[in-house]
Amino acid sequence: MISACAPGKIILFGEHAVVYNRPALAVPVNGLKACVHIEPSPGDLDGTIWINAPALGLRKSINAMAVDNPLAQSCRLTLELLQKRTFPSFEITIKSSIPTASGMGSGAAVTIAIIRAVARYFDSMIADKDVNNIAFEVEKIYHGTPSGIDNTVITYNRPVFFIRDITMEPFSIKQPFNLLIADTGVHSPTAEAVTRVRESWEQDRDKFEKLFDCIGDITTSARAALANGNMDELGLLMEKNQKLLEALGVSAPENNRLIKTALDAGALGAKISGAGLGGNVIVLTQKPHNPQLKIALMEAGAAACYLTEVSP
Ligand code: PMV
Repeated sequence: MISACAPGKIILFGEHAVVYNRPALAVPVNGLKACVHIEPSPGDLDGTIWINAPALGLRKSINAMAVDNPLAQSCRLTLELLQKRTFPSFEITIKSSIPTASGMGSGAAVTIAIIRAVARYFDSMIADKDVNNIAFEVEKIYHGTPSGIDNTVITYNRPVFFIRDITMEPFSIKQPFNLLIADTGVHSPTAEAVTRVRESWEQDRDKFEKLFDCIGDITTSARAALANGNMDELGLLMEKNQKLLEALGVSAPENNRLIKTALDAGALGAKISGAGLGGNVIVLTQKPHNPQLKIALMEAGAAACYLTEVSP
């Protein structure tokens, strides 16, 4: 059996503004993974590919899936790149511990695990750049007009300072730090949140361009705070970024409640991570990590809390 896994991700700073070419910072979350296993499926017609996702109750041949199904498309684009047209039938099984629709990149992680597993199955290697390009095409199916940050940070599996179409570079983190990722339990509709921001931007471009500029400046300052290991400053920048996300209209009451709870319980900073309208909030915890914070968040209605270490 052939396998490949890909991590989850969180955006630290700059979501939404990144769609409008402002910088964003994102990091992989290696404690959560999407894994894909492939094995031959003897007895089926040559060229048949089964996709089996037990958590979704799905087992279907990709020929029976819609042309724009992201799972099928991940597979088709990979086979196209590998120039594989005829092959004995095989089955792809997908298992993931990354919560879906919560801003943790589960879609991109599954796509990237499929691309790499299919390449391995055919004893081939696909360069990271090509993995990233295919994953970006599939992200468009999921989200319409993605910035590309999810597929980039997950493909390269390292902290990324990202400006759409301009740069994708690692950034330095002076000292590892802990984040609590608290799930509101409300599914975060990325495409809807991105569309909502776009409609508001179309109605008042001046205002929204200024908001995006402010978020971009905060992201740049956060990069410096991470490089200097200045956690107090990082926390304040998270709070400022959150206020701007609220001004963009993507912070739901459930996000606001968890953020307030975290700050009241002594967190250094807290904000939405990802598209918002639910999904996850990230909380910068003091060192050593205070276990009361997680209890307070769960009592305030968090569906789950994961502690993750962000390291260079
Ligand atoms: O919620 P997620 O992980 O899909 O992140 C979306 C991030 C946005 O900036 C809102 C959109 C994008 O494509 O960058």
